[in-house]
Amino acid sequence: MRSSLRAGVAALVAAVGLATGTAHAADTPLRDLGAAKGKVVGTAVTGSRLTGTYGDITGTQFSAVTPGNAMKWGSVEPARGSFDWTEADQIVAFAQAHHQQVRGHTLVWHSQNPSWLTNGSWTSAQLSDLLHDHIDTEVGRYKGEIAAWDVVNEPFNEDGTYRSTLWYDGLGSGYIASALTWAHAADPDAKLYINDYNVEGVNAKSTALYNLVKSLKQQGVPIDGVGLQAHLILGQVPATLQQNIQRFAGLGVDVAITELDVRMQLPADSTKLARQAADFRSVVAACAAVTRCVNVTVWGFTDDDSWVPSAFPGYGAATPYDENYQPKPAYHAIAEALGGGTTTPPPTGACTAAYSVSSQWNTGFTGQVTISCSGASLSSWKANWTFGAGQQVTQAWNAACTQSGAAVTCTNASYNGSVPDGGSVTFGFNGSWSGSNPVPTVTLG
Ligand code: G3I
Repeated sequence: MRSSLRAGVAALVAAVGLATGTAHAADTPLRDLGAAKGKVVGTAVTGSRLTGTYGDITGTQFSAVTPGNAMKWGSVEPARGSFDWTEADQIVAFAQAHHQQVRGHTLVWHSQNPSWLTNGSWTSAQLSDLLHDHIDTEVGRYKGEIAAWDVVNEPFNEDGTYRSTLWYDGLGSGYIASALTWAHAADPDAKLYINDYNVEGVNAKSTALYNLVKSLKQQGVPIDGVGLQAHLILGQVPATLQQNIQRFAGLGVDVAITELDVRMQLPADSTKLARQAADFRSVVAACAAVTRCVNVTVWGFTDDDSWVPSAFPGYGAATPYDENYQPKPAYHAIAEALGGGTTTPPPTGACTAAYSVSSQWNTGFTGQVTISCSGASLSSWKANWTFGAGQQVTQAWNAACTQSGAAVTCTNASYNGSVPDGGSVTFGFNGSWSGSNPVPTVTLG
């Protein structure tokens, strides 16, 4: 019954997708760029919006969807024993029609629970049964249809202690292992994750998560991955993001960036959007650099469908498309970090220089410049640019850099002056910034 209904919805969704066309970004879709690098590229979605342009972009650009709210306990069982799977089913059907994964979100959380649950007074045994039944019912319903579940969401405080919640207070920290074990029993093929925010860099909270995952692995509890939500603030991508991803990978689990957005104070302007692009680029590049980082998911792809403005008044513009569904610089930065993008090939017989920010934190950043030659060659080089917002080079490698005011000149080291036809040379530097960090244009001289 449920599957024939779902097939009908899927067919309808597919027909709408075909009828509306897909002309939004001329470049290779993010999902294809991600696939070439072994990465799933996802977005959180609202089921009721999956038609027209919103559905079109969701279907063409992304290889996974996460229900932003539709699979939370409060959504699926608003009254005890009375279930509403409408939106969750619709999203699963859409994903199947578009050959996308579904990331299930989320089974055990302190928020968005039904009031009958939170207002009830339960013994530990009752709470345990309620949670077991919930997981059994929801994971069982979608058995074979969900690639990965955010089983436990946000279990930690900022200092790395366990958050006091209905679950922790009633069941102790063992609720986490129980939830994972029950989810595994209900769908042995789904990848099971613990998901949290402010665990992107190496800090007390991410270290608590690391220690938990390590101990769960040692106990043989089914845990496949950690989700780093990555609700970030403009210019504040943690410098230790890649290192942190790598340390989780070292435990033998996958890592997913599950809820990426980068909020800014409104109104947005071109300087802030350029900095946002650099932030998205560095997050995606950090994931791309670690094999076990398997998924980058944005928490809404359009500024028209983002939780930020209502949660942080005065802030917004946090996603890669504007509210009119136009791709922003952040969209192109994601594409470039996945190996695609809009970089035009150099004209025949030329050497060109490309500047990028590979990571950025609150006061500093790491940049790199690649000099490439095609149909021409160099025996020495000098790269020049002018910083637009007071940035300062503090240290360089593979080049000697001097800065006078905003003007920077970098000359080759003794060993890398030669750039052959068809070859390239890269040098790097650390810099400081404040306010904004726009990307300058580099000329060769
Ligand atoms: O559905 C009701 C609607 O009927 C009512 O008119 C409206 C009035 O405010 O509220 C609607 O519910 C809202 C719901 O989103 C659906 O839009 C809730 O008020 C609102 O609180 C809820 O916010 C969600 C938030 O989780 C709750 O904490 C966001 O959409 C959702 O994006 C957000 O997602 C979380 C992740 O699950 C976990 N990580 C953090 C992330 C951001 O908070």
